[in-house]
Amino acid sequence: MLKDHRIVLIVTGGIAVYKACTLVRGLVKAGAQVRVVMTEHAAQFVAPLTFETLSGHPVALTEWPRGPESPMPHIDLNRDADLLVVCPATANILAKAAHGIADDLASTLIAARRAPIVFVPAMNVHMWRSSAAQRNVEVLKEAGARFIGPAEGFQACGDVGAGRMTEPEAVLDRLMGFFAPKTLEGRRVLVTAGPTYEALDPVRGITNRSSGRQGYAVARAARDAGAEVTLVSGPTALRAPEGVRLVSVESAGEMLRAVEDALAEAPCDLFFSTAAVADWRPDSVPVLKMKKREGEPSPFEAVRWTENPDILRTVSARKDRPYAVGFAAETASGADLLELARAKRARKGCDLIVANDARRALDRSENAVRILGEDVDRSFGPADKDACARFIVEAAAQELKKKEMP
Ligand code: C5P
Repeated sequence: MLKDHRIVLIVTGGIAVYKACTLVRGLVKAGAQVRVVMTEHAAQFVAPLTFETLSGHPVALTEWPRGPESPMPHIDLNRDADLLVVCPATANILAKAAHGIADDLASTLIAARRAPIVFVPAMNVHMWRSSAAQRNVEVLKEAGARFIGPAEGFQACGDVGAGRMTEPEAVLDRLMGFFAPKTLEGRRVLVTAGPTYEALDPVRGITNRSSGRQGYAVARAARDAGAEVTLVSGPTALRAPEGVRLVSVESAGEMLRAVEDALAEAPCDLFFSTAAVADWRPDSVPVLKMKKREGEPSPFEAVRWTENPDILRTVSARKDRPYAVGFAAETASGADLLELARAKRARKGCDLIVANDARRALDRSENAVRILGEDVDRSFGPADKDACARFIVEAAAQELKKKEMP
């Protein structure tokens, strides 16, 4: 997603400078051309040589040593940049940027910028909460600057609270989507993901092999397309994409409640029902663990089952229904898979259905999808689940737009 994009990374002076090293590595690995600019204070924390080695280019530290190749670094660096990232961003650089102060290379670059800019703040909690810092953030946001974080937690100074730099992996995740087409700007998107877990007793339960990766990737792709995303997730080992609201649930019943709560809070435009929801749950769950008894049949043989609510069908039947996208993971393939998927779309009442071969998708990092709708039949893959998610989200955004056209 960042291949050949030219990013100027402005590193300002705080203990979080060491995290910016990981970010440079990730950006370079993602194919970006990275030029690093450091302030004098940043260079006190980590030697410029580290950034030079990681980025593969000399680090710019000052306006003054004008070589023949770059007589005016603040103009030349800006001319070549697709994006400026200030990471970590101190209270000082926020103040200077908000007021157009240009008294070193970093601040002069920002003052003379043409490309979009992203700030990744990192500072003490009291500094972050100060009215001056908050005012400066508002001024910068109004001028179109984007912010990633800060996060909350333990700080190097011993304080706890907002101001920690967002972890570099999460910053990278956000930047990866920066150049994605904003086809869902201003839209609200709801995604279910992962397996559900139905308790059999206090220590055992029924679940499935869904890893949640496809649903999380859909949430990430929708976020990158500019949507405000709520992700209702069953138990997974995944970290929610930065900037996505996560609601964690266990059972199908809880998942339906969380989906209905999210819809009641505010209507949403698009619903992706990516979760692998259990069809059945035990009638009742004993308070104590079921015991194995010598010579007796399994106590689970006596379990009676109740059908779970169908979340996709329930949402698709609402008057204020969002544009609904279901998933059909089957162990069939070819024409059988298509027929099953078409029948499922009709049964669930959703707008689109994404058909895939469960054996090739569940708990795997790759997927191959076929999107079916009334006049839609589009295939993609095999490809990694992020690429599939971008395709699915893009197709759904286009179909939604078509449906809204008079
Ligand atoms: O019927 P089946 O489980 O194969 O349907 C798959 C689609 O229906 C998926 O989009 C899944 O999220 C959704 N579903 C649901 N609630 C259920 C069962 C499935 O939303 N109880």
